[in-house]
Parts: sequence; C-alpha cells; structure tokens
Amino acid sequence: MAGYSNDHIASLVRPDQVHRDVYEDPDLFDLEMDRIFGRSWVYVGHESQVPEPGDFFCTRVGLQPVVMSRHSDGTVYVVYNRCAHRGVKVVNEECGNVGRFMCMYHGWTYDTNGDLDFVTQSEGYPDLEFDKLEHGMGRVARWESHHGFVFANLSPDGPGLREWLGENSDFLDDVAVSAPDGEVEVTGGVHRYLYHGNWKMQVENLIDMYHPAYSHESSSAKGGQQFSRREGDKGGIQFFEKRGKVKSMDGLGTHALPNGHTWQGGLPPVENMSEDHRAYVALLEEKHGPNRTREILIKKRHNVIFYPNMAMQELNPHIRVIRPLAVDRTEIFIYPVKLKGAPEKMFRDQLINLNRTHSPTSLVQTDDVEAFTRAQEGMMTSGNEWVLLARTGPQESLESGRIRTTGTSEEGMRNHYRAWLEYMCADRPE
Ligand code: FES
Ligand code: FE2
Repeated sequence: MAGYSNDHIASLVRPDQVHRDVYEDPDLFDLEMDRIFGRSWVYVGHESQVPEPGDFFCTRVGLQPVVMSRHSDGTVYVVYNRCAHRGVKVVNEECGNVGRFMCMYHGWTYDTNGDLDFVTQSEGYPDLEFDKLEHGMGRVARWESHHGFVFANLSPDGPGLREWLGENSDFLDDVAVSAPDGEVEVTGGVHRYLYHGNWKMQVENLIDMYHPAYSHESSSAKGGQQFSRREGDKGGIQFFEKRGKVKSMDGLGTHALPNGHTWQGGLPPVENMSEDHRAYVALLEEKHGPNRTREILIKKRHNVIFYPNMAMQELNPHIRVIRPLAVDRTEIFIYPVKLKGAPEKMFRDQLINLNRTHSPTSLVQTDDVEAFTRAQEGMMTSGNEWVLLARTGPQESLESGRIRTTGTSEEGMRNHYRAWLEYMCADRPE
C-alpha cells in the first residue's frame, strides 16, 4: 500500500474541487478500504434476511467477506467469512440455512455464530488446544442494528451506531412506523449490477438533483412516463415544460449531516386514490389515528445516504447497497423493502415500479451507469486534473449539525469529502 502522507491526501480535496486521483488511483482505493470501510459503520443487511436460526446471508465489508447469520439462540452475528485453518472462505452460497458451516478444504466445521465446532483428524495437532472463539471464523469488532438494519464496524474505536447515524436514525424510525405492523421486511429478491466506475460516483449521484433533467431526459420529458417512483403516480416526473425550459429541482432541498450522511427533501405529495392505498391508510389510522397518519404519509426525505455504502428511498421503499470491488469497478444491489401488514398488492406495484426505475436494464438506471463509465474514462485525461463541486444555493446550518440547502447544490458531495478526509487522515490507532 502506498505510503501517502496525510498532507498528500489532504491536498486532493479543496473546498469546491477534488483531484481526479480520488476516483482513479488504485493505492488510494486500498487506503479507502482500510480507513473508511475499516473504520466506519458499514451497512451489512437486514435482520429479516435471516429470520430463522441457521439462516445466513453473505456480503462484504469493504473487500472483506463476512457472514450475517442467525444463531441457534436467535441472536444475529456478523463474522468474517474465513476458515481459521488456512484461510479459505467458508460459506460460498449467498444465502441459505445450515445446521453448521463446513469448510470445503479440510472439513473443519463452525457453529452458526462462527465459533469453531469440529476439527477433522484433530489428533494431528497434539500440541494445540483448540479454542472455540480463537479458532472460530472470527467476529467483527462490532455490529448493531436499528429497526433490524444491521451495520458492522471492523474497528472497536469510534462512536456507537446510534450516535453515528445521527438524524438518519429518525429516518429509519419513520420507515418502520409507516408499516402497519411497525416493521419492515427485506424480501422480494434483488436487482444486482456492476459498473465500470469508482464507488463514490454512485454515492454522489444519489444526492445529485442537477443531473436528472439531462441524464434522464428520455424518461422525464413530456410523454416519458417511466420516471414514476411511487404507487398512484401515473404521470412520472416531468422536468421539461417545453424544450429548453427545465423545472429546477432546487425546491427539493439537500441536507448534509455529520459523518458524511446526506439526504434530499421529499417529493411533493401524489394523490393516490387506489383501493389498496385507501386500505393501507385505514390500517394506519386504526393504529395511529388520522392526525398522526397524515404526518406518517408525508415523505420528508427522498434519497437518504448512509455514508459510505448504503442509501434508501422511502417512496417505493428500497435499499441500495454500494459494494466497491476495485478503483474502477463497483457492484450495486437494490433490495425492495416491504411494509409489513400493508396490502400485498402495494408491494407488487412497488416491485413493478422498481423494475422500471432500478433494474439493471431499467430506462433510468442505465443512464446513470453510462455517466459513471464515461466519467471514469474522461478523468483519465491529463487536460484537467480537478473535478468541480462548486455549485451552491442559499444554505443554513442547523443546531443538529445539519446543513440545509437547495436541491441542485453540490453541498452534499462536499459533505461526503469532508467525511472522506476525516476518515482518510485520522491518525491510525496503534
Ligand atoms: Fe478450512 Fe483447511 S482451510 S479446513
Ligand atoms: Fe440518476
């Protein structure tokens, strides 16, 4: 790994510009995996993905393979996906149910919490006293969940999950309360695709309300109705009143929080007269009364980013997981989120809408991926080494540490880079 000094790393980020190396330099990518994904809370998965004892779900924290599993005692664990013998990845399937994990190389087995269970032909190790934990797959330093959303931290140092989430934990509260049963479920499969670009391009795109009118013109111009993101929205989003005159997304609002988190303000309400929506509202009213239900139905936020690797939308609810693979290669996972207790047809419609906007071949998603690929290529030129993030709008700083500004401001991205610098330049604990 390149021995970059903090001074060198700091020189790559100016108040309104970043150096192209942050997207193009493989050594910086390695440092990011160590210092951002190795120090921050990183989203792993939702507890509902492992509902029964023995259920497991494999993912990565940065580049490191981990397993989230539900142990026989009902507790969720996050362990490294690594055999204590000679380092082989133990669990190869992406998800499933087991009584024990077994390494395919020499047959060692592990319990569903990653503890060592059995060493084959153990008489060959006369001098070794095997310890369940020490010779287990290895637990990550910390993991915690909020409304079933599980985050892991490979470092024992730093804030707890709730402190790190800050106001983003209110968002998860809002999502949970919008389910008639008070909880959500991650089910309905996954959209998965890979793009040839740096992972931060996707993170930045999620707070970029400047691009949709142009990148997604084919879906958002008059007559293009593909850009509907919620049940009841029959017209989609239309930016072009007539050619050349764009409706700005400034009214939406950008919010920049500590630790690199960001969100966009909510979209205007859509009148939804469908039978299922009315049934859903009736279920909420039964539980919370009409006033609280009206509040619950107002979606205050659109894309909510949990820096560095997760984002969620409450409209047409889904989770987006950003998995860096290399400096110029990233994998994206879109998981539909089901509001437990809501009419089943609502979830079906949600899946249809997600196919339209977020599948690998959707008419919207493909535009963004094309932009990421072209950016990765364009930044290889030596003509200009700097990327401009200078766009502003009126902004105010709130007491909570949140900055509120206009929708097309690039403040959200500048906020990502403030967090990036903090993680990347923090002195390493011994
Ligand atoms: Fe797993 Fe040998 S490497 S049992
Ligand atoms: Fe987009």
